[in-house]
Amino acid sequence: MNDILPPDSAKLGVFERHCRQLFERYGYEEIRTPVLEHTALFARGIGEVTDIVEKEMYTFLDRKQRSLTMRPEMTASCVRAYIEHAVGKREPVTRWYYSGPMFRYERMQTGRYRQFYQIGVECFGVAEPTVEAEQIAMLVQLYDGLGVPALSTLVNSVGGAEDRPRYREALLAYLEPRASGLCADCQRRLATNPLRVLDCKVDAGSEVLAGAPRVLDSLTDTSRARFDAACQALTDLGVGFRIEPRLVRGLDYYTGMVFEIQSASPALGSQAALVGGGRYDELVESMGGPPTPAVGFALGVERGILALPGPAESFQPRPHLFLVCHGDAARRRALVLAHSLRISGLRIELEHRAVGVKAQFKRADKLRALAALVLGDDELASGRGKLRDMTSGQEREVALADLAAELTGGDSGGQPGE
Ligand code: HAM
Repeated sequence: MNDILPPDSAKLGVFERHCRQLFERYGYEEIRTPVLEHTALFARGIGEVTDIVEKEMYTFLDRKQRSLTMRPEMTASCVRAYIEHAVGKREPVTRWYYSGPMFRYERMQTGRYRQFYQIGVECFGVAEPTVEAEQIAMLVQLYDGLGVPALSTLVNSVGGAEDRPRYREALLAYLEPRASGLCADCQRRLATNPLRVLDCKVDAGSEVLAGAPRVLDSLTDTSRARFDAACQALTDLGVGFRIEPRLVRGLDYYTGMVFEIQSASPALGSQAALVGGGRYDELVESMGGPPTPAVGFALGVERGILALPGPAESFQPRPHLFLVCHGDAARRRALVLAHSLRISGLRIELEHRAVGVKAQFKRADKLRALAALVLGDDELASGRGKLRDMTSGQEREVALADLAAELTGGDSGGQPGE
């Protein structure tokens, strides 16, 4: 679990703002849910026999001996909220986005933490497979727009209720005779949840798994047609993608298309997955709600930040003006001037301590202030001062009373540099 300090927090803030603005363009609205939920919600929602539920949840008893869990993801919480507030009765289609900390007891490494931040979206009420394509296109736009390098979009289908028994049979017929080549956990999973063998972290890359039958080959015609329609929509949207038959994702609720967006950025180490998502048409009903098709994804914020080019400092907001003070009277006047300029929406830096002019300019440079103005006895007497552009070094004389307008290019309501 990490502290996130400036300047890293600035990079995180910019990334988060980008996501919000983009998702709102697609009609998603924010939902916030508690960090704690009843353990049963995740066990039922994510699946009893999954790595998350078996090994990774922070679970404890509260003072009344109720088992609670710190959310390892938000889809189950969104589904609970959707049912609890009968949202489906109020509107045919619901689009939510969320942002917040999640908790998983995982082995830590670059890009993998025990408290990490996810931003995600969930869309309820649309069965048409164009929604998953729209979500993927939105994500590619997000990462492309931010300059994240070497992206790849992987898609697959895990099939629905009709496909599962057939695939399970084919998979068991293949895996059972080869069980001795699997890890102890997977040998147990053969009896409980064989699909989970496919995304076992221990057996990943093993020869046994490499030869396993593919879900795509077991799909009914209807499921295959839905998958093809989603792929076609991706092509229509100009999104390049690769069908990855081994992609099954580590959560049990998926029913149709699943997807992952990865970046080959070396900053990510082995944790290349920026986003994971997919369709889960049976989850709402299985949790006690009305039959409701749904599809969504979550992205890892820390991984997004790692893959985002540029030093964290370049994401810090630059002050519009550093007021450099010379003498006590100037400092008193500067306090009031800075206050009124900040009310106009400007970012103003001010040195409260009695330090020299040179040191103040040094600080203005360090903070990458866009402009500086020296306030001393002369400026106080004349009501005028020299506004220095800190990039070009050029100075021009301005009336102190007009500073807000001067800094915003005549429009004192605007915010230059934003
Ligand atoms: P997930 O694949 O478990 O899916 O997580 C989504 C993303 O969260 C991952 O691709 C990764 O970027 C990030 N992530 C996961 N675990 C960690 C960790 N320990 N440290 C840092 N980042 C991590 C879900 O959570 C589903 N709820 C997604 C979804 C929403 N499916 C449908 N709707």
